[in-house]
Order: sequence, then structure tokens, then C-alpha cells
Amino acid sequence: MRITVIGTGYLGATHAACMAELGHEVLGLDILPEKVAALSAGNVPMYEPGLEELLRGHLAGMEGSTGRLRFTTSWEEVGAFGEVHFVCTNTPQRRGEFACDMSYVESAFDLLAPHLDRPVLVVGKSTVPVGSADRLALRLAERAPAGEAAEVAWNPEFLREGYAVEDTLHPDRLVIGVRSDHAEEVLRELYAPLLEQGTPLVVTDFPTAELVKTAANSFLATKISFINAMAEVCEASGADVVQLSGALAYDARIGGRYLNAGLGFGGGCLPKDIRAFMARAGELGADQALTFLREVDSINMRRRSRMVELAREQCGGGFLGRRVAVLGAAFKPDSDDVRDSPALNVAGQIQLQGAQVTVYDPKAMDNARKLFPSLSYADSALEAAEGAHVVLHLTEWQEFRTMDPEALGRVVGERRILDGRNVLDPVVWRGAGWTYRALGRPS
Ligand code: UDX
Repeated sequence: MRITVIGTGYLGATHAACMAELGHEVLGLDILPEKVAALSAGNVPMYEPGLEELLRGHLAGMEGSTGRLRFTTSWEEVGAFGEVHFVCTNTPQRRGEFACDMSYVESAFDLLAPHLDRPVLVVGKSTVPVGSADRLALRLAERAPAGEAAEVAWNPEFLREGYAVEDTLHPDRLVIGVRSDHAEEVLRELYAPLLEQGTPLVVTDFPTAELVKTAANSFLATKISFINAMAEVCEASGADVVQLSGALAYDARIGGRYLNAGLGFGGGCLPKDIRAFMARAGELGADQALTFLREVDSINMRRRSRMVELAREQCGGGFLGRRVAVLGAAFKPDSDDVRDSPALNVAGQIQLQGAQVTVYDPKAMDNARKLFPSLSYADSALEAAEGAHVVLHLTEWQEFRTMDPEALGRVVGERRILDGRNVLDPVVWRGAGWTYRALGRPS
């Protein structure tokens, strides 16, 4: 099929390359010429394992590629090319509010509409407040020369950064919100290779499809905050949250995934999605149903303050004149994304309280520097830790999980480590003469 992908961020770039992998002819559009230039040259502007190889394997003009994938800034070209248009623009949190900023999605629909002069399907993938698809469908039919023959469907995306390609080519499920048998048939044909591999397909109306995404992210955030609330109780009672979550995980009804206590969740999705969900529920008069998400958000933010407190204790009660090493800047490992990163948030707070903070991350240094130019940055964990009064392990990259406590011990000022992700082995670190502290574990 001839499909277009509008917006080439994490979601769009991955979707475009994966649709080419499924055998479709794909044209990606972005309004930023530099993004289109980078992608057209075979460069993915973010760190996402496997994506660049996939892109190059399908990019037109690349030697040995299938040539099924191209990028453009032209709406006219997109309109002329596509039978199915995917809208993958982002929906960030509105400045100073909980609600979601729909302007990028709306402008994508508005800029596309005038070029739709024959029957097409416009499929929204962005995470939007429930009710948006309905409104966008009306708006599109009013503005497109094809009128109601420019049909809308909603097909939320559940990909995780760091596993974006895997999650797109082998999803847990496909959810499509449709209003006609025709739309369902088109999407069944488009995703045929995934359906053949046994991926469950859930066909719903618009609001249910929109809600599946926000409900899923709310559930995951709640599960993380649940175990972090348990970590607070563990801290108060002397219990060990790692053993606790390990024991809970044996209960198949609970399960061990998203049950790792630590510094909590960040990134471009979970925090803003639960806030947008609360805001939308308020508009719908269902705010009571989601008041618990406010608590989920608070528990999550309290973990960051608690880490700052623990670090202050380790620095002898104050940060002035102290050197603090921060390992990790990305919001999670295998990503260079620093949006609402718990690690950088903690680093920033400590720096503001007078410490000299040096950060190292395997992939997120450039993005971290842009967001927090006042922090110091080092080229390795060892360099960051030089002379440090305390080392904070805040993003669990593999390289940190396997760090040698002896080697690190030789460069630090004092052997004190705070494990914000509960993945280092306390026995090993204490055995090497370190003071090891973690969130929710006995000291
Ligand atoms: C999330 C959803 O998983 C995905 O389905 C959705 O499409 C987008 O939002 P992502 O933001 O890439 O994906 O990150 P995810 O891997 O879910 O992790 C989110 C945050 O939770 C990270 O900061 C991670 O460190 C934290 N986390 C995760 C925990 O603190 N504990 C856990 O047990 C799991």
C-alpha cells in the first residue's frame, strides 16, 4: 500500500521504517527540513537500537536498500501519494497546565486536509485526550475536498523507547478505532503481516481506542508508584523493597514487570499522559474517577526529593563545596531521551543547592547539555566520579550495572554510592568498602 507518515519523531520515524519493512511504499513528512535531510541521508536523529539499520535497509537511494521509503516536507506530495495517512505528531503537556497540547496534531490534520481530493484513510496514532478523534474527523471532512470520503481511524501506539522497532514489528496487540467496515478492511490489509504472526486485533469505536492508550499508561504509572509507595513504607519500617517486589512478582496476578522500585518514572509519555488524562476527566465531569492519579504523580515526584535528601545526608548534611557524581542522564537506559528525566531532575536540584555536580551518560550527553547547560559533564563514569563525595547511580545502563567497585573506588573522594535504580549488588559494593544506600532498602 502507499502510505504516508506525518511527523517523524520517535513514533513517526519508527513507524515509517517499520511500515516499509512490512512491504509498503512509505513517504514520511516532517515540517522541519533538517529532520527530513537527516532521515533522507540515513541518519536517525535519536538513539534507538536497530532503527538506523532498518531505515537504511529501505531508504530510496541507499545502496542495497528496497527503496520503499522516502521523506519530504511537501504536503502536496503527501496528499498525492498516500492511500493511508498516519498522523504521528507529538502531544506534549501544555505550558503551565496539566492538559495536553493538541496544536501539532490539529495542524497536521489542517495542513493535510486541502490535499485530500479522493477517498483516503487518515489514521491518528498520537496519544490524545478521549474525544479528539471524533472532533478531528468532523474538522477533516469540512476541510478536505473529498469531504466525508476523507475518513478517520484511530490506532494508538504502545511502543517503548529503546524497544521501538521490536514493539512495532511484534506488538502485544493492535487496537483500531473505526467507523466503517471499509476502514477496518484497509487496516487489516495494511497490518496483514502482523495479524498473520498472531497479533491480537481489537476493533473498537473512537473513544475506546483513545482510552486504551491512556489507560495502559496510567496503569503502568500506577504500578510503578505502588511499589515506590511500598519503598517509602520499607524505609520507615526497615524492610527491603527489592525482596518485597521479588516476592510479590511470584503471584501471577501481580507479575514482576513495572514493579521495580527506585527513582520512578519519567520520559515524554507517562508523566504527561497521566496529567492530560486527569485534565480530560475533569472536562468530562469524571474527575473523581482519576483523583488517584494525582497521588501516583506525587509518589513519583517524592522519590526524586528523597534521593536529594539521601545525597545530602551522605554529604554530611549540606551540599556546599561538595562534589557529586551522577551516573545517568536519560530517563531510562537504552535511550538518549532526557524529557522529564528523574536523573537530570535530581542532578539539577543538587547543583542548585550548592554542590559541584558532574554527569555522565553513555548516550544522552548532548541532550542533557542542551537542557541543563550549567551542570558539568564528563566523558566516562570514572571521570565523573573523580574526587566525588558521593556517587549517584540514577539510570541503570548496562555499563553501570557491571561497574567494578574497585576501579571506581580508586578515583572517588569517598566510597559512597546511592543506587537510585536498585540494580547494584549491595553485598559486592559493601564488600569493596563502599557505603551503599538505595531507595526502599535498609542501610
Ligand atoms: C511508555 C510505555 O511503556 C509505552 O507503552 C508507551 O507507548 C509510552 O510510554 P517509555 O516512555 O518508552 O514507554 O518508557 P518505559 O519503558 O515504559 O519506562 C517509563 C519510566 O518508568 C522510565 O523512567 C523507567 O525508568 C520507569 N520505570 C519502569 C520504573 O521506574 N520502574 C519500572 O519497574 C519500570
